[in-house]
Amino acid sequence: MDTRPKDAPLPYYEQPSPGTGSLPARAWYATSDAARHDLGGTWDFRLSPTAEGADTGFIADDADLTPNEWTRITVPGHWVLQGHGAPAYTNVSYPFPVDPPRVPTENPTGDHRHVFDLPADWPAGGESVLRFEGVESCARVWLNGTELGTFQGSRLPHEFAVGPLLRPTGNVLAVRVHQWSAGSYLEDQDMWWLPGIFRDVTLLHRPEHSPADFFTHAGYDHTTGEGVLRVESGTPGTVTVPELGIEIATGEEVRVPAEPWSAEHPRLYTGELATPGERIPLRIGFRTVGVRDGLFRANGKPILFRGVNRHEFHPDTGRAVDEATMRADIELMKRHNINAVRTSHYPPHPAFLDLCDELGLWVIDEADLETHGFCYFPDWRGNPVADDRFVPALLDRAQRMVERDKNHPSVVIWSLGNECGAGHGLGAMAAWIRERDPSRAVHYENDPTYRDSDFYSRMYASHEEVERIGRRAEEPLEDPELEAHRASLPFLLCEYAHAMGNGPGGLSEYQRLFETYERCQGGFVWEWIDHGLPVQTADGEPYFGYGGDFGEELHDGNFVCDGLVFPDRTPSPGLIEYKKVIEPVTISGDSAERTITIRNGYDFLGLGHLSFGWRYEAEGVLLASGELAVPEVVPGATAQVPLPEPPAGDAAGEGIWTVTAALAADAAWAPAGHEVAWGQIVDSARPRVAPSAGAPTVAARREGTTWTLGSAVFDAASGELRSLGGLTLHRGPVLDLWRAPTDNDEGMAWEEGTRLAQRWRELGLHRIRHRVDAVGADGDTLTVRTRVAPAATDAGLLAVHRWTATGEGELRLEVEVTPEGDWRVPLPRLGVRLGLPAGLGHVRWYGGGPGEAYPDTRAAARTGRWEATVDGLHTPYVRPQENGARIDVRWAELRERPGAQGPGLRLTAGERPLMFTARRWSTEELDAAAHTPDLTPGDTVWVHLDADQHGIGTQSCGPGPLPQYHLTPAPVTFSVVLRVLGED
Ligand code: GAL
Repeated sequence: MDTRPKDAPLPYYEQPSPGTGSLPARAWYATSDAARHDLGGTWDFRLSPTAEGADTGFIADDADLTPNEWTRITVPGHWVLQGHGAPAYTNVSYPFPVDPPRVPTENPTGDHRHVFDLPADWPAGGESVLRFEGVESCARVWLNGTELGTFQGSRLPHEFAVGPLLRPTGNVLAVRVHQWSAGSYLEDQDMWWLPGIFRDVTLLHRPEHSPADFFTHAGYDHTTGEGVLRVESGTPGTVTVPELGIEIATGEEVRVPAEPWSAEHPRLYTGELATPGERIPLRIGFRTVGVRDGLFRANGKPILFRGVNRHEFHPDTGRAVDEATMRADIELMKRHNINAVRTSHYPPHPAFLDLCDELGLWVIDEADLETHGFCYFPDWRGNPVADDRFVPALLDRAQRMVERDKNHPSVVIWSLGNECGAGHGLGAMAAWIRERDPSRAVHYENDPTYRDSDFYSRMYASHEEVERIGRRAEEPLEDPELEAHRASLPFLLCEYAHAMGNGPGGLSEYQRLFETYERCQGGFVWEWIDHGLPVQTADGEPYFGYGGDFGEELHDGNFVCDGLVFPDRTPSPGLIEYKKVIEPVTISGDSAERTITIRNGYDFLGLGHLSFGWRYEAEGVLLASGELAVPEVVPGATAQVPLPEPPAGDAAGEGIWTVTAALAADAAWAPAGHEVAWGQIVDSARPRVAPSAGAPTVAARREGTTWTLGSAVFDAASGELRSLGGLTLHRGPVLDLWRAPTDNDEGMAWEEGTRLAQRWRELGLHRIRHRVDAVGADGDTLTVRTRVAPAATDAGLLAVHRWTATGEGELRLEVEVTPEGDWRVPLPRLGVRLGLPAGLGHVRWYGGGPGEAYPDTRAAARTGRWEATVDGLHTPYVRPQENGARIDVRWAELRERPGAQGPGLRLTAGERPLMFTARRWSTEELDAAAHTPDLTPGDTVWVHLDADQHGIGTQSCGPGPLPQYHLTPAPVTFSVVLRVLGED
């Protein structure tokens, strides 16, 4: 048996150095007049279980591709998503023994082979380079039998000079890709491990006298309104920008009056760099950014990041993301008022940045670097960012990112990477970046001294901590010099509001802090998309899987599903909420004062691109509407405009104005009419009138084992309502406390004290019992007294249900709840649940909508009349959990048919509007489900009417709900009128 001598050099895939043979990094650009040939398509492929198990015969022209070893694969793509091996998910842990730079012998290795002809018009002369945009995690490359080199750095470009090796036809490109390499230690990002050639492979002609590289410096002098342009190019040439009359030599600087670029107004000028060998289109955005006087400024003004962290993800293709998907992401972001992206935690496909330039997003471009798994060892022992052997690789990662992306106006901050602790390797990266590109700021979060960062950056800090930092009252660092440095920095939440499952809660309060404290320049929600992968049940039902669904021995479950959009990019309620919370225009008002206040929260834009409209509704019925004339308002300022007169007459019901701001003309990312912001103003002259307690119409009567109240029949033993006016209830309203814990209720596995759901379960809130203390008539009222509590505790809730008949087929229920005993936890919910026949599948309601809302996720709920099916009320979180509540519901109807048709039941809240939920499975079934197919409709529509629920918070990674959103057990009374609806 061959064994490697003890002191033999490590194989290339275990070398901490970045590789051999590739060309220096240079700027990426989408087009030029130089020839290029896309090599993507169907390639030959063979998977081996180890790095060295297979021979390299496949590099030869006449290689024998044995059919049962070799198959076909799509490039770009990941083999584990194409039927070879399996994806695996871990958050922090390395899925292999930690012994850098060594990797396991079990090292899935994909041999890729592609035979191609040169396009007939491929130019003679010049050079040609073979470019890989992304290969995970290590590759060895051959062309026509000659080895070109090896590389690591998965999300970074690598080029090889291949000119002399090319043939007109029958070129054999062979690429061996190892899943694990020394580079894997630098790529411990929280995501699926997905090996493969997952970004484009291109052959690029490099004509003689074409620039080896170029660097566009396009600043904006806000004091003069001039753009300042200089393009450096290895090969001298000419730079033209016809629209600005610019024609200069490379290296020469010119100043001309120009419009600045910003994320709000992404003004790009079309130019060209012409050298004797190549003409390269330029897209120039003039802007100057950087930290000055403690604030990050663009074109002289501090800006507020309304950001999101974006991983590259598509459920079918993993991190192989096509341009249509990239564009769809940016359009969705822009439509939801997001103005910034952190490319967590690696440089994205380069075309994404072109789209950010064009559509307008501020970008924090982050190096492909994370060594989080070392945090488990004392003082991060062995951390590669503190290991000299890895410094060349770290520098290589910084360089490849900066050189590739330096010409994008959208990129305003370079980030050294994510969660690597501290180490001199990071300092080396920062120093190199500052030297090469002093025109941008540098970000790094995970070293509490911030010695290498231009930002004081935190993740998941509580509101309280953000406020403290906003007031400059944070705990000082011990070292006075480092303290002085940190104190001089603007503050960012590079991650906050963990969008896992239902939530995140508390967004509005964060936003208020950002608006209040100048030092707080906003944040980036974690994260954009749920990385759920499609799977099927045994009988073919599709659903999204997560960690543990692919045979992983070590995994982090559904922590990979924590995005603002579902895996299929449907916006989740969290995104709708975020849109409202960060809207750049805020609309408020006062009906008594007859004014609307409009605040311009943009950093640069006026309001001229928006058209304002108003509607007046009485109990959700439109009575009048019109356009609203709003004067120009500069950023940061407010204007008052008169509130339109409420329509005359005495239409019944609560009066509300809704004022909207919409795009006046088509934008590149949304059509005219797209709503940007809205506000509602309640008419104090026309308040809601809650149903009165009314005079009971009949007396309660005992008949055998039942009680009756008019057409209502109750079970005399349980006190539960069995039927009302011919409608049979599967379950009468009973007090209810439990909700299927959300990911935020479950808290953080690694942090004691955050797991509220565990405390709920310990107390037994999921197995509550109802003791019936009394059922009896009390005058015209049927009174049912219960005590509701789980086993083994003396804490309980006393509930008094008072039923009266208030009309034909109509009952009023008042519930009075008094807690007793020692309650040490907030309640999940407090309300009643009832079971109705499954046929009542259509819902209309008046209250908060159209989407779900909870006490601390309710900014986007607007009061109106809404309609949905019971199925449509459900939010399909990848891991099923509490969802779908509608807030502040004044009344709801459940019917057999859509519209105000068909028999059904109307529920009208008393003084206190209620939270309303209807679903086809019980809370217990929802709680037990791990994946969406585990939920199957039964014969019951379960309806919840809650006086309140506990807030949502963001404790799956971060703080729980703010204290004001805790549902602390306390005496409460609420009421509801139930009325049976006949055929209309
Ligand atoms: C952060 C990390 C992210 C992600 C997030 C939790 O600590 O930077 O990559 O893991 O937590 O989802």
